[in-house]
Amino acid sequence: MNFFLPKLIGHRGIRDIAPENTIYSIKKAIDHNFKWIEIDVKISKDNIPILLHDENLYRTTLVNGTPIEFDYNEIYKFDAGKWFDKNLKNIYIPTLEEVLNLCAKNQIGINIELKPNTGFEIENVIAIAKLFKHNKKNLKYYFSSFDWNSIILIKKLLPKSRVGILIDKFDEDINITIKKCIKFKIFSFGLNIKIVNNEITFLLKKNNFHISVYSSKNITSKESIKLFNMGIDSIFLDNPKGYNKILNY
Ligand code: G3P
Ligand code: MG
Repeated sequence: MNFFLPKLIGHRGIRDIAPENTIYSIKKAIDHNFKWIEIDVKISKDNIPILLHDENLYRTTLVNGTPIEFDYNEIYKFDAGKWFDKNLKNIYIPTLEEVLNLCAKNQIGINIELKPNTGFEIENVIAIAKLFKHNKKNLKYYFSSFDWNSIILIKKLLPKSRVGILIDKFDEDINITIKKCIKFKIFSFGLNIKIVNNEITFLLKKNNFHISVYSSKNITSKESIKLFNMGIDSIFLDNPKGYNKILNY
């Protein structure tokens, strides 16, 4: 399948205009012309990969607990929309499988962030990799993670899949990280906007990495122009306001 990452990738679906990591959020991203979206994935107690960002379910469902304490048929009943908008109905935490089918059907690329429940990194990656063992010819996707163990394991289980490293801050010399990425055939760096600068960008581009940038709050179009001029390839976006030209509408 042709693999091309656009300048803008919807973050957690499109998190400023719909409840993050839900079918509704992905559909909203599609409505706004996004060609790729990012989601966070971890497993339930019965090893089903589901979409969730936080360690705890509370912020997005008002249920206090981690997903590893519940089977998916229980998690499915938690309301994942009311925290965002009290008028929303029937918004639930979807499985990764349902989301992969939605993306394949709509020809939308998907960046699956491996976001394990702490201590369940191996189980998480094994359960996710299982979904990719069968033919995924109609799907554009890549994996990413902040967690090196998850990255190394997914590469081992699915050697042909593309994988990116996410970096909040460099805890070691960047040249050591680059060497590690070359060794494990990592194709992309996802950087926190706080650590992006010309020097880092130059070094990563010199080594042919794709560079994406994320932030804890929306990246404005003004900031994006600066980042693209610096050589950044893609941006994870929470809100498409002001991006009409890049999204072609
Ligand atoms: O993959 C980029 C971004 O999603 C990483 O940060 O915390 O939003 O998952 P976070
Ligand atoms: Mg994420």
